[in-house]
Amino acid sequence: MEFFLDTAEMKEIETGLEWGMVDGVTTNPSLIAKAGKPYLPTVQAIAKLVPGPVSGEVLATEYEEILSQGHRLAKLADNVVVKVPLTPDGLRAVAAFKKEGIRTNVTLCFSATQALLAAKAGAAYISPFVGRLDDVAEEGMELIEQIVTIYQNYEFDTKVLVASVRHPVHIVQAAMLGADVATIPFKVLEQLYKHPLTDAGLDRFLADWKKTGKTFDS
Ligand code: E4P
Repeated sequence: MEFFLDTAEMKEIETGLEWGMVDGVTTNPSLIAKAGKPYLPTVQAIAKLVPGPVSGEVLATEYEEILSQGHRLAKLADNVVVKVPLTPDGLRAVAAFKKEGIRTNVTLCFSATQALLAAKAGAAYISPFVGRLDDVAEEGMELIEQIVTIYQNYEFDTKVLVASVRHPVHIVQAAMLGADVATIPFKVLEQLYKHPLTDAGLDRFLADWKKTGKTFDS
């Protein structure tokens, strides 16, 4: 299972890369706005820093404009994946990008039918938003299960990228269901390491050895 960081904060990406847990990055307009940075230069800077795929989202909603912005994003670096909204114009653009060899990440997916359409259009990734479904009293993870099954049934190449992750249980459930990727906020990545018994056990090991008055070498 691949881990992408869901952020536009360079510091978070640098730390995640140091930890060896970041296979790629996803951005969206809200994340770049929150970071208070310019749009295209931020996607470019992240793509330079991260060896894996970096999703940069178009700000357009109409076909020609999606194509134009997608081309500009794709030209920034070889590892840029063009993020496109799940609309008729968006999926039409996905099919056109596919013919040109440009990889796409179809975003704002909230149903299995939408995921099926994205795969048929030739998306490299589908991003179902589990947290936002949970927010409206639907089971986000049920959607992941449906998409994984449908893609397996027809051997689609489109990877299931679990998005809108809110907590570590989402990661466990996504992994149990065989999702290809989870895109994770930095705070949740930190939480994945944490267990109180690890902290307590480490404290006790170190305290027990300290009581001997000896060092690492003696
Ligand atoms: C990533 O590709 C999505 O844009 C992101 O995970 C959405 O997360 P949110 O629902 O927490 O905004």
